[in-house]
Amino acid sequence: MAENTIYVLGLETSCDETAAAIVKMPIDEGHVVGPGRILANQILSQIETHAPYGGVVPELAARAHLSHLDRLVALAFNDAELQLSDMHAIAATAGPGLIGGVLIGLTTGKALALAADKPFIGINHLEGHALSARLTENIDFPYLLLLVSGGHCQLLSVNGLADYTLLGQTRDDAVGEAFDKAAKLMSLGYPGGPEIEQRARHGDRSAHKLPRPLLSDRQAGLDFSFSGLKTALRQAAEKAAPLDDEKVADLAASFEAAIGDCLVTQTGAAMRGFRRDKVLQNRRGRLVVAGGVAANAYLRSRLNAAAEDENFDLFVPPPALCTDNAAMIARAGGERFAAGLIDAQPMAVAARARWPLDI
Ligand code: KG4
Ligand code: ZN
Repeated sequence: MAENTIYVLGLETSCDETAAAIVKMPIDEGHVVGPGRILANQILSQIETHAPYGGVVPELAARAHLSHLDRLVALAFNDAELQLSDMHAIAATAGPGLIGGVLIGLTTGKALALAADKPFIGINHLEGHALSARLTENIDFPYLLLLVSGGHCQLLSVNGLADYTLLGQTRDDAVGEAFDKAAKLMSLGYPGGPEIEQRARHGDRSAHKLPRPLLSDRQAGLDFSFSGLKTALRQAAEKAAPLDDEKVADLAASFEAAIGDCLVTQTGAAMRGFRRDKVLQNRRGRLVVAGGVAANAYLRSRLNAAAEDENFDLFVPPPALCTDNAAMIARAGGERFAAGLIDAQPMAVAARARWPLDI
C-alpha cells in the first residue's frame, strides 16, 4: 500500500439509514488531495419500517441499525476487497441525531478500532454533509453550503477543514420535514419530498397564495421558517377539499414554489455576504447544496439560476451522496486523519443528540 494513500471505514447510523463505506484517499502534506475513490458504499434504508408512521420512530430505527450494521460492514469489506487491517482509520457518526442509533454506530466503530488497533474518529454528521461534495469533485475551501435535509436547514460558510461558520438556520421545521408534513396532510406517501415533487410537475405554481415566512422580516437575517407555510397549506387544502389529482398538483406546486422562493432569497443573500467576506471580487464563488432535499430537480434548477446570477458555480453531489450515507463520514474521517485533527482520547468520544457544527 503506497504511503500517500489512505483507506478509511465510515459508519453512519444517526437517522433512518444504516450505512458502511470504505473510501480511498490520496494524501499529500497533511491534506487529502482530490476526490479519491469510494470503494464500497453500503446503505440500507429503513423507509419501509417507518412509512406506516409518516416519520422516523427512534426506537425502531435503533433496533434496525443493531440488526444490520455488522452485516453491512462485512459487505463493504467484501465490495472493496479489503480487510479491517488494511484501514488507516475507522470513522463513525457521533452526532447529532437520534441518540439510540448514534450509540450503535459509535460503539461498533470503537470496537472495530480497538480490535484492530486503529485510530478511531468520531464525526459530526453535519461535517459529513459539508464535505460530501468533495467525494466526487475537486472543490477547494472556502465554499458556501446550503444543507437541506429531513433534519436540517442551514447555510454555512465552509472556511476550511474543521472551520465552519453558521450563517442561518431554520427556526422550526427542516425543509425535508416540511415536505414530509405537507405530504401527510395531503394523504401522500412517505417520504413526502419525492411525492410532492412528482405531483407538482402537473400543477400551477401560482394557484394558491402561500406565505414566504421571514423573507420580509429584516431581523431574520439568513434564517428560515417553514411551520407557518405548512399551516397555510393545511388551510388551503381544507378549503379546496375534497381533493382530486388536479387540486393536489396545484397545492404541491404552490408549496414547492414557496419553498423555492425562501431558499433562493436567503441563499442569494448568503452568496453576496460570502463574496464580500472572502473578498472574491469578480472571481467565481462556489455554492454546494447537500442533503436529501437537494434531490429535488425544481429546487436545484432555481438554485442554479440564483448561483448564475451571483457569479457562483453550483455543486450538488449525486443523489446517493446527498442523502445520508457513510462515504461522507469516511471522507470526513480521512480529511481529519490526514490533518492530524483527531481526538486525544477517541474511546471517550460521546454520542450527542445535538451538536452544532460551528463550535
Ligand atoms: O438527507 P436525508 O436523506 O436525511 C436526513 O438527514 O434527514 O433527507 C431526507 C429528506 C426527507 O425529508 C425527504 O422528504 C427529503 O429529504 N427529500 C426531498 C426529495 N427527496 C428527498 N425533498 C424534496 N424533494 C425531493 N425530491
Ligand atoms: Zn443527514
